[in-house]
Amino acid sequence: MASFWARVTFPRRLVPALYFRRNIQMVSIDPATQANYTDISSTHVHFDWDINWSKRVISGSATHTLLAHQPVDHVIFDSSYLTIDAVKIAGKSAQFDLKPPHPVLGSALVIPLASNWLPEISRGHDRIQHHGSRDRCRMARKGTYSARVRSVLPVLLSAIRVSPPSALIHGGKRVGEETVEYVYKQPVSIPSYLIAIASGNIVYRPFPAIPGKEWSTGVWTEPELMESSYWEFNEDTARYVEEAEKIVTPYEFGVYDLLLLPPSFPYGGMENACLTFITPTLLAGDRSLVDVVGHEISHSWFGNNVTTADSGHFWLNEGWTTWMERLLQQALHGPAERDFSYIIGRKALTEALKSYENNPKYQRLVIHYEFGEDPDDAYSSIPYEKGSNFLLYLERLLGGLDVFVPYVKDYVTTFRGKSIRTEQWKEHLYSYFRQNGGEEKIRLLDSVDWDAWFYGEGLQLPDPSKLAFNATDLKDFNSNQKVVFLERLSDIGGVSLPATHIHHLNATYNFNTSSNAEIRLRWYNLALTTPGATSYARDAAEWLVDPKGLKGRMKFCRPVFKKLFRVDPKLTTETWKLNSQFFHPIARRLIDKDLGIAEHRS
Ligand code: BES
Ligand code: ZN
Repeated sequence: MASFWARVTFPRRLVPALYFRRNIQMVSIDPATQANYTDISSTHVHFDWDINWSKRVISGSATHTLLAHQPVDHVIFDSSYLTIDAVKIAGKSAQFDLKPPHPVLGSALVIPLASNWLPEISRGHDRIQHHGSRDRCRMARKGTYSARVRSVLPVLLSAIRVSPPSALIHGGKRVGEETVEYVYKQPVSIPSYLIAIASGNIVYRPFPAIPGKEWSTGVWTEPELMESSYWEFNEDTARYVEEAEKIVTPYEFGVYDLLLLPPSFPYGGMENACLTFITPTLLAGDRSLVDVVGHEISHSWFGNNVTTADSGHFWLNEGWTTWMERLLQQALHGPAERDFSYIIGRKALTEALKSYENNPKYQRLVIHYEFGEDPDDAYSSIPYEKGSNFLLYLERLLGGLDVFVPYVKDYVTTFRGKSIRTEQWKEHLYSYFRQNGGEEKIRLLDSVDWDAWFYGEGLQLPDPSKLAFNATDLKDFNSNQKVVFLERLSDIGGVSLPATHIHHLNATYNFNTSSNAEIRLRWYNLALTTPGATSYARDAAEWLVDPKGLKGRMKFCRPVFKKLFRVDPKLTTETWKLNSQFFHPIARRLIDKDLGIAEHRS
C-alpha cells in the first residue's frame, strides 16, 4: 500500500470577484479572485467530508460563517472543479449560480442572500453541499476552520487533531478496511491557502519533546519511509522552532508536523498550518537538506501569521521567510552559513531575472497583476532573493541585527493575524524607527531608493555597493574556512575562474596581503594557475623570499616555486638564484630538482 493519496490543496492566489470588477481600478482588490470578499467573507468554515477511495472523490459540505463588511445581497466564492449539489442558508435551501470556469480564476459560485445582510447583524451560516477536487480562496481574509472527515485511510489536515490520537494508527481500526472519522480544529485564523488535506497509508512518529515547550513536532510518512524520514529531520526540526521563537515571538500553532508527500509533489515544501508538506527528495541521508524545513518553519511567522494581502506582495511571505530561514542557519550553524546561502541565492536570482528579460514586470519585487493574470507565471526566486537581499540591506543599513531583530519582533507582533500590503509594511518600518531611533534612523530610511527596490527591473539590485561582495563577507570566517573557500575555488569541477574574477576576489578580500601563510599558499595556488592572472607572479616571488619572513617551510615554498616557474620561468630562476642560499639544503636540493636545475649546483 505504498501510495494511496488524495490531496485537496487550496492553492494560494485566488482572485477578484465579479468579471465586471475588471474595469474597476482599485489597488486594494486582489486581482486573483472573483470573490466579493471586501463585502462579505468567512470567519469560520466547517467541513464535513467523506473520502470515497473507490470512486476517488471527496464529497460533503462546507459550512461558512459569514460576516458582512457592508450591506450586501449576495456572496461569491471562488471554486475550482467542484460539483455543487445544494446550498443552504440558515438551514433553508437557497439558489446558487456556478459560473463557467475562468481559465486562471476558476468558477465563481454566486449565492444570492435573501435579504440585504448588514454588517452588525449579519452573521449567517451558509452551507454548501459539494463534491469534487478543490476550492479556491483569497489571502486578504482569514478565518478559523474545523473538519470531520471519514475515510478508510488515515486523514491529515492542516489543523490540530482532536480525535483519534495521532499515535493510535487509524484509531485502532483496520487500515484500508474500516471507516474512521477524523476530527480537526484550526483555532488560529489563517488564510484559506493554508487549508490542506491529505489521506493515505501514513503513520506518525513524534520528535523528542523540548522541555517547557507547549508545542510538539513530529513526522508523518508512509511506513516504508518512516525510518529514514525520522532520522533526517529529528535533530533539527524542534531546534529550528526553538531558535525562531527566540528571534521572533512564541510559536502559535501548537503542532509543527512534517508530512512526506509522494514524489510528484511539485514543491520543496509547503507551509500548511500545523503540517508542512515536504518532497521526499529531502531525504538526502545526511541531513544536508533540512534548511527547507527551516524555511517552512519560518513561514509560521512570515506568511501564516503575518500574511501577504495578495500575490502582488508575495515577497512579504517569501522574502521575509528567506531572511528568517538564513538567520536560523546562522543560529544553528554559524554566520558563514548565512552568508553562503546569500551567495548561492544570488546566482539563482540572476538566473531568474534573466529568464524574465522579455517580461520585465515580473522582475519587480512588488507586482501589479491585472485581473485574471496568473501569479504562477511570475513564480521564481525573485520574491525570495530580491526580498531577502532587500531586508539584509535594510538590516545592515539600520545598524545590524542588534537593531533589526527588535524591529522584526515588533513587526510580527503588530501585524499578527493580519494580511498586509507592502505599503503597510513600509509605514510600520518608518513608525517603528521614528520611535526607536529617531532622526538618525529616519535619515537612513530616507536614503533608501524605495521605488527602485519595489518596482526596479533589470538584472541589478538597486544598491550594489551595499550588496555586492565586500570585505565583511568573510569577516566571520576563521582561517580554515578561508582556506577551504580558496581551495574550493581552485577546484570547481576542472573549470578555472576567469582572471577578472581573481582580480575581483583579491580587490575585495585582499588575500595577497594575508599574513597567514596557509591562506597565501591557497591564494597563490589559485591565482598562479588561472590563465591570464599572472600579474600575481611578482607578488608570489616576493612573498617566498621576503627577508623578514622567508618561506623556508617546504609545504609553502615548493608548490609556489613550481607554479611560479610555469607562469614566469625567467622571474623564478632569477629569484631562486639570488635567494637559494637562504634556504635549508634539503629544500634547496628539492627545489633545484623541481625547477629542473642541475643538482651539482648545490
Ligand atoms: N510557499 C512555498 C511553496 C509555494 C510557492 C507553494 C508558491 C505554492 C505556490 C514554500 O514555502 C517554498 O518556498 N518552497 C520552496 C522551498 C524553499 C526552501 C525555497 C520550494 O518549494 O522550492
Ligand atoms: Zn516559502
